[in-house]
Amino acid sequence: MLFSLLYAIVLYPIVYIFPAYAANGAPVLFGGGKPIDRKRKINGKRIFGDNKTVRGLVASLICGIAVGLIEYPFLHFMLPIAILLAVGANIGDLAGSFIKRRMNVPSGRSVLILDQYGFFVVAVLLAAPLGHLPGLYGMIFLIILTGITHILTNVGAHRLKLKKVPW
Ligand code: CTP
Ligand code: MG
Repeated sequence: MLFSLLYAIVLYPIVYIFPAYAANGAPVLFGGGKPIDRKRKINGKRIFGDNKTVRGLVASLICGIAVGLIEYPFLHFMLPIAILLAVGANIGDLAGSFIKRRMNVPSGRSVLILDQYGFFVVAVLLAAPLGHLPGLYGMIFLIILTGITHILTNVGAHRLKLKKVPW
């Protein structure tokens, strides 16, 4: 009883969202180099900015899908979901940067909610049609977890000198 509740609200939601987390975290470790927008501008403002790199995007897709491949033997449906989560996480992340640049926010400067939840919302929306979504309480848990994880990983990455700023 207690275990099945714990599984439904904590464990399964983490397994479900993990490809998106991997996709979001990988660029911090493996990113860098040429920017995706090749320094192009729209109305004098960068499309995505220097911090969205081709290497980061490729690493993100590989890591997100790799998590899906690891989960696949246990949960067959997680592979296609992981692919959509990884693609969605990147669309959300790039859309966030695109919006920040339109608002004249420099690369790396934080915008609350957009930074923490952009990747998450688009990843879940893209994967949702395939079903197997966590239930309401599981999703609420994930919303809280995503906020906390974002704060902890960014402070950690800053301390490890992987990121210039702690957010
Ligand atoms: N990163 C990357 N390529 C990507 C996404 C991220 O190389 N496609 C790396 C960059 O080094 C970036 C770091 O991961 O600085 C953290 O990513 P994120 O917080 O999403 O970007 P920001 O630096 O905050 O830039 P922006 O203002 O555009 O959101
Ligand atoms: Mg950021």
